[in-house]
Amino acid sequence: MAATTSTTFSFSLTLIALCFLLRNANGDPNITFEPNSTMRTPIQPSPPPRFRFHTLQLSSLIPSDASCCSSPSLSAMEGLNKGASLRVVHKYGPCGQAQQQPRPTAAEILLHDESRVQTIQSRFRKAAAGGDVKVTESSTTIPAKDARTIGAAGNFMVTVGIGTPPQTLSLVFDTGSDLTWTQCQPCARFCYEQREKIFDPSSSTSYRNVSCSARSCSALASVSGMKSKCSSSTCKYEIQYSDSSFSNGFFGTEKLTLSSTDVFKNFFFGCGQNNQGTFAGSAGLLGLGRDKLSFVSQTAQKYKKLFSYCLPSTFTTTGFLNFGHVSTTSVKYTPLTTVPGGTNFYTVDITSITVGGEKLPIPATVFSTAGAVIDSGAVFTRLPPVAYSALRSAFRKLMSGFPAARPTSIFDTCFDFTTFNPVLVPTIAFSFAGGVEVEIHGAGVLYFFSLAQACLGFAANGGASDVAVLGNLQQVTWEVVYDGAGGRVGFAAGGCS
Ligand SMILES: *[C@@H]1O[C@H](CO)[C@@H](O)[C@H](O)[C@H]1NC(C)=O
Ligand SMILES: *[C@@H]1O[C@H](CO)[C@@H](O)[C@H](O)[C@H]1NC(C)=O
Ligand SMILES: *[C@@H]1O[C@H](CO)[C@@H](O)[C@H](O)[C@H]1NC(C)=O
Repeated sequence: MAATTSTTFSFSLTLIALCFLLRNANGDPNITFEPNSTMRTPIQPSPPPRFRFHTLQLSSLIPSDASCCSSPSLSAMEGLNKGASLRVVHKYGPCGQAQQQPRPTAAEILLHDESRVQTIQSRFRKAAAGGDVKVTESSTTIPAKDARTIGAAGNFMVTVGIGTPPQTLSLVFDTGSDLTWTQCQPCARFCYEQREKIFDPSSSTSYRNVSCSARSCSALASVSGMKSKCSSSTCKYEIQYSDSSFSNGFFGTEKLTLSSTDVFKNFFFGCGQNNQGTFAGSAGLLGLGRDKLSFVSQTAQKYKKLFSYCLPSTFTTTGFLNFGHVSTTSVKYTPLTTVPGGTNFYTVDITSITVGGEKLPIPATVFSTAGAVIDSGAVFTRLPPVAYSALRSAFRKLMSGFPAARPTSIFDTCFDFTTFNPVLVPTIAFSFAGGVEVEIHGAGVLYFFSLAQACLGFAANGGASDVAVLGNLQQVTWEVVYDGAGGRVGFAAGGCS
């Protein structure tokens, strides 16, 4: 019998796949990850014995929308956030604020994800070519593509308080961008729909506009990629994301409350008067990048640029976002690397990949040539072409008992599971410099369009020197630690339990 990993989950489904699948009236797969010991059924024609597999239980049940969350009042927020530990929910799950919003289709998710990844990669490419990322004058209508901040900023949200008294707001958090902003009354131009009340600075005693002469106003250029504007000596920001989302408005300071013990006065943020795009449902963005004005930089004195998160593997479970501490003691660390063009990103060295427990024959230079970004906002992992081909062929070999399904979009390795249950899926693990091995959770191996089309949730980069991107689908349930001061990124298994 093939070795299998024991991943236990009550109701689990490849994260984003659910958005898509929930639209079907019936036949929605309900995929659970059963412990090894409960596995009885023959799965697929004689799985090779020496390899490691996940057991995926597939059944056809419509998941109920758990009513675990109401609109967070301040006291509810205090219940969710303990000290510097914030509860993380999926934006489109029942605990998210965006469940009233139409969920994006799989095609939309893929499109946004591609634009995000390509924007990240173009930053590195430009730097490698010796060019700087251009700062665009905000007077021009459409900024150069590479001046845009990366878009489709992930799907995970936390709730924070802004103002005095605090108004609670759910923000998407993003390690790939820096500026924190929220939609702001009076929404002079446009505010999209959000479930919470839109932040009103006039009901706060602590809101201040930033003046045009302030250093933080000039710092906006590197953070947002667009020079600030000035309106009656008030600094105005503009930020445009690669997926055409944007926010602009007044640059201000406010009191930011994570919990009763973690409060930051004079926090710099964007008070958005004109906001559109894929952020709908959230109140804005919490920037966890490495640049000057990011949340991480602004709170460095208290938290020493240390934070960690665990992203839930399903819509109905929750994760956490910690600041200044980690939840698990058994964290293994890999050094942050220096990659030209990558100073705003968290970059690490991949050293090898295993499939089913067996190391792939990939020359080390394949990874060192490309480098790798770990990103909370990108969904699917992108690999250098040589590494991806090796992964694909090993994976296909161990999945040969399943009929192939039509390739789609960036995915070229898809299977039809309609007549199989449960299924054994080979484990995939990444090794990083320093001997850190991260075995991807069973929910992060495949992306389910449907039971008849489940695709290996990875894709190949266009070129050998394009930076690899570790997406959030492959990070689920790991506690990922970002230690900016210590210059390292860490991983601990079983984070969200
Ligand atoms: C799976 O279960 C068998 C029998 O209980 C056990 O011997 C084996 O070590 C388990 N494999 C894994 C990977 O846990
Ligand atoms: C999913 O399937 C499992 C096993 O069949 C079941 O125990 C669980 O309740 C189902 N979850 C939902 C949300 O229907
Ligand atoms: C901030 O600046 C804008 C534009 O000048 C102004 O309308 C608004 O009243 C100012 N808010 C505060 C609190 O000063």
